[in-house]
Amino acid sequence: MADSNKTATLSFGDKTLELPILSPTAGPDVIDISKLYGQGGVFTHDPGFTSTSACESTITYIDGDKGELLHRGYPIDQLAAKSHYLEVCFLLLYGHLPTAAELEKFETTITHHTMLHEQMVNFFRGFRRDAPPMAIMVGVVGAMSAFYHDSTDISDPRQREIASHRLIAKMPTIAAWAFKYSVGQPFVYPRNDLDYASNFLRMCFAVPAEEYQVDPILARAMDRIFTLHADHEQNASTSTVRLASSSGANPFACIAAGIACLWGPSHGGANQACLEMLREIGTVDRIPEFIARAKDKNDPFRLMGFGHRVYKNFDPRATVMKQSADEVLDLLGVEDNPTLQVAKELEAAALADPYFAEKKLFPNVDFYSGIILEAMGFPTSMFTPIFALSRTVGWVSQWKEQLADPALKIGRPRQLYTGATLRDYVDVEDR
Ligand code: SDX
Repeated sequence: MADSNKTATLSFGDKTLELPILSPTAGPDVIDISKLYGQGGVFTHDPGFTSTSACESTITYIDGDKGELLHRGYPIDQLAAKSHYLEVCFLLLYGHLPTAAELEKFETTITHHTMLHEQMVNFFRGFRRDAPPMAIMVGVVGAMSAFYHDSTDISDPRQREIASHRLIAKMPTIAAWAFKYSVGQPFVYPRNDLDYASNFLRMCFAVPAEEYQVDPILARAMDRIFTLHADHEQNASTSTVRLASSSGANPFACIAAGIACLWGPSHGGANQACLEMLREIGTVDRIPEFIARAKDKNDPFRLMGFGHRVYKNFDPRATVMKQSADEVLDLLGVEDNPTLQVAKELEAAALADPYFAEKKLFPNVDFYSGIILEAMGFPTSMFTPIFALSRTVGWVSQWKEQLADPALKIGRPRQLYTGATLRDYVDVEDR
């Protein structure tokens, strides 16, 4: 624990409490209020957790003012440029960059866990063909808790590691098969001679009727998108996984809960919502109309892909994603993609508008990712499943870290109650 010799003095009513201050290796100090209710008889109130530290972690650090994102201390722009997704997975899971031997062993392990139990095919077939792939992912990942219920003793570090490997390895197969099922094409099985991103692209786009060649530049762009979404501190879906697993629940069920949370348009669903918004805007001349709507307090419309709870200058992932969008669209010969033109003009218009500057609203990771994914041939319904695939390593790394903490307690928040106070039951004839 990051103990310091500092305390915060809190005085209210006839009470004065000295609360310990914990000093991090980076970021703001933390006032430990865990004894506040016992000593002071009061709760703190922070519904959106805007000022609340929910846990101690060593995995990811974000500085919202600097636009800094570090995974185990390594900045995201360096990892995106020099590393690759499975190496970042190792870093997130184990805390250090792997040696060549460690990396080879890890990649071999992941590669040999990519197949699903054949019985799981039946879960896909139970869905309607028009089921959203995110609904299928929630269901199928949840169903994994029925396949590994007898080999997931979460108190055993080795079994926690095996569950982590299975989830990282199988998520691309599940996401790809959810896509294939939605388009009425046969499932394509993973291949052990392909790297992680190439395997996913082939499982999505190969058909039995012909050979499929993975374009190495698209595979590199896919791998970079996986890396940019890998982990992000205590975001809503990661916090969901931590809270679910604090009760000792089956890890696959906990990850299914994380997928469900990520689905929302305020979170991982924003990449799909953003592309749909850009399509609705359609042409550059309609941008002022949508900027006005986003600023209108009486209009619930928000610019999807803009704003962030933590980043208040820029999202470093959006910067890398924007560069990748230019590269991929140039490669595909669609550099004059009308959606990309609208996105770039919208970004420029919003950044020049005082409303967005004052509220510190900047493009986030979801603003450009959809443009790349669409150019690669994915339907918008696959954007959030790809985010979920990428974030699985973040969820399982944070899950592993929490379960290894001997001080782990079940998460059980309290409330500000403003409902009816004690009153007696009234018989129906007397009401
Ligand atoms: C992700 O937490 C993470 O790390 C998430 C994530 C990850 O990797 O896990 O980074 C991934 O979820 C990125 C965010 C994707 N969501 C969107 O792009 C949806 C659009 N963005 C907003 O819904 C919003 O910006 C949030 C949800 C992202 C953040 O909301 P906050 O921090 O709760 O801020 P807020 O809603 O209190 O807004 C502050 C002000 C409000 O105006 P006032 O009430 O102060 O007058 O800014 C306005 C909001 O109306 N505002 C926007 C806006 N976002 C906030 N106005 C117009 N367009 C927007 N997008």
